Amino acid sequence: MPSDIESVLVESRVFPPFPNLVETARISGMDAYREMCEEAKRDPDDFWRCLARENLVWTKPFTRVLDESEAPFYQWFGDGELNVAANCLDRHLNTHIADKTAIIFESDDGKVSTVTYKQLYARVCKLANGIAALGYKKGDCAVIYMPMSTQAIVAMLACARLGVIHSVVFAGFSSKSLHERIVNVGASLIVTADEQVRGGKHVPLKSAVDEAFEMGGCDAVRRVIVYERTGGKVGWTQGRDLWLRDAIAGQPTRCEPVPVNAEHPLFILYTSGSTGKPKGVQHSSAGYLLWALLTMRWAFDSRDSDVFWCTADIGWVTGHSYVTYGPLAAGLTQVVFEGVPTYPDAGRFWDMVQRHKVTVFYTAPTAIRALIKASEAAPRCHPREYDLSSLRILGSVGEPINPEAWMWYYQEVGRAHCPVLDTWWQTETGAHMITPLPGATPMKPGSCALPLPGIEAAVVDDAGEDVAPGNGGLLVVKRPWPGMIRGVWGDSARFRKTYFPPELKGYYVSGDGARRDADGYFWVMGRIDDVLNVSGHRLGTMEVESALVAHEIVAEAAVVGRPDETTGEALVAFVVLKRPLPSGEEAAAIAAQLRDWVGREIGAIAKPRDIRFGENLPKTRSGKIMRRLLRFIARGETITQDVSTLENPAILEQLSKSA
Ligand code: WTA
Repeated sequence: MPSDIESVLVESRVFPPFPNLVETARISGMDAYREMCEEAKRDPDDFWRCLARENLVWTKPFTRVLDESEAPFYQWFGDGELNVAANCLDRHLNTHIADKTAIIFESDDGKVSTVTYKQLYARVCKLANGIAALGYKKGDCAVIYMPMSTQAIVAMLACARLGVIHSVVFAGFSSKSLHERIVNVGASLIVTADEQVRGGKHVPLKSAVDEAFEMGGCDAVRRVIVYERTGGKVGWTQGRDLWLRDAIAGQPTRCEPVPVNAEHPLFILYTSGSTGKPKGVQHSSAGYLLWALLTMRWAFDSRDSDVFWCTADIGWVTGHSYVTYGPLAAGLTQVVFEGVPTYPDAGRFWDMVQRHKVTVFYTAPTAIRALIKASEAAPRCHPREYDLSSLRILGSVGEPINPEAWMWYYQEVGRAHCPVLDTWWQTETGAHMITPLPGATPMKPGSCALPLPGIEAAVVDDAGEDVAPGNGGLLVVKRPWPGMIRGVWGDSARFRKTYFPPELKGYYVSGDGARRDADGYFWVMGRIDDVLNVSGHRLGTMEVESALVAHEIVAEAAVVGRPDETTGEALVAFVVLKRPLPSGEEAAAIAAQLRDWVGREIGAIAKPRDIRFGENLPKTRSGKIMRRLLRFIARGETITQDVSTLENPAILEQLSKSA
């Protein structure tokens, strides 16, 4: 939860939509928006049927729209067939888009390369042929562990072309996390790179794959295809590893797309929940793609002339929907960036917007906050130093955006002529759910505004009843929508329990808390479960705790979040060691060691900011850890509430001291 949540609630500024955007937008004005919402409510089947027919290319048309007979295992367009890669590429080939630039790729060191839709099509076909030649076919699973690159997008689309289900693992995750995902998804193919380059540093990837193999249990993997990004040194297993250039050598530049059922899983993407292990969120082919594409058209009001740039990594859902599938299905030109926002300096984003004449820019509040800070320190990196006049729409995603960051984004980046779309959505929702529309919705800084047409979002109490305006409750979605999660891979019980608990009337439960104001606007307050949001990345407290206790010197650990100015939340870990309580330099050294350990167990994003040691943790007499108290301590606040139920009150003072 952002530190200035109170100010969020008293925010009263309203920014009307810009007349020039209202005039040209697909959804033009609030009346048009309301009319669409009404239409969707009146006859949802007809609403979605028309959209799915108009926006997707089907090889076998569907006759059924929504099948609720196995709810919550909903099926959309269930008797139709199509191919997702063909919907992103082939459909454009007989149009002017064929020779349009699909991707402007900029590497970490600033080298730029472009591919047209026709060239991208040929590259995807070649790789798909190469993968097929290795014996892979529809229904197989591939893990993609790659740097941000045109090649990574080609790999995703090559899988989709064959009906091979992909699971992209963020390249910042450790070999241990990679291993867990390879095993859980049952991958038989891995596509990776020798190294990735970020902020001038080379980070090995292939060696992490090798380490994952050494951990055992990856026997299903027959092949590892390696893209040569840097020429860095790699280990090699004969018969298993092959270079991507060899896999595609001599392969034809045409490959028939394999038609798949609308419900065929397009991908599995792992995300954190409230248990120790991340869960594999399963998405469909048709419904997912439809939703990714519609939100490009509705929320970003995409234009043929756009240069779209979503800064997310393909390892996250934002990269799936707004780097790979959405922009390509929409036939846009987009920027894909390998590096980080602060290299070579904090003006990198603005420099790239200027050079590539970006029109729609989509990033995370954490990046904005970091760049605000950086531009205060280095004024030449301030957005005002750049020509950003190409911009027409700005977007924000991943965490609540505090009004201060919103205003800076709006004024300094958008020069008060671009709407800021605060888009609320999740890995599970496939694409945007609640967001202002550039040509319709008045914006309030810090609010994600109103649900998209067809999305019945609501704030309810524990019994599923709508709460009154101004009151907090659970953010739910009352009716299914095409882009929704289809399952938790290999765990249907967890799917039901987590997302459609029986006491909540079969609503989709997001795990976020929210409230609506008198205008019906949504104000998302943050997670109500044990999920933290650090720099826009989801992390389960249990996940980090499991990593800590896996270390031989750790007896017990509890992890909580504390508000942080830049990263939204920061992790604070309370640790009990199997040895006497350390202090001073020794404590600092052990803390550093444990931070590195968590980095290796999960990935750098999960390293606790703060580690504090105690002889015990605050527990109730029945032995339950009182996390509420730990949150107070983590924030440095005085505990004013009654601690008489505590088994060991003295422990609070000990833990208050930082490591
Ligand atoms: C949070 C990222 C407030 C929220 C697309 C959600 C947000 C989680 C917003 C999903 C927003 C995302 N305002 N909170 N505009 N967007 N969140 O699955 O807590 O990585 O549940 O998907 O991020 O994170 P995920």
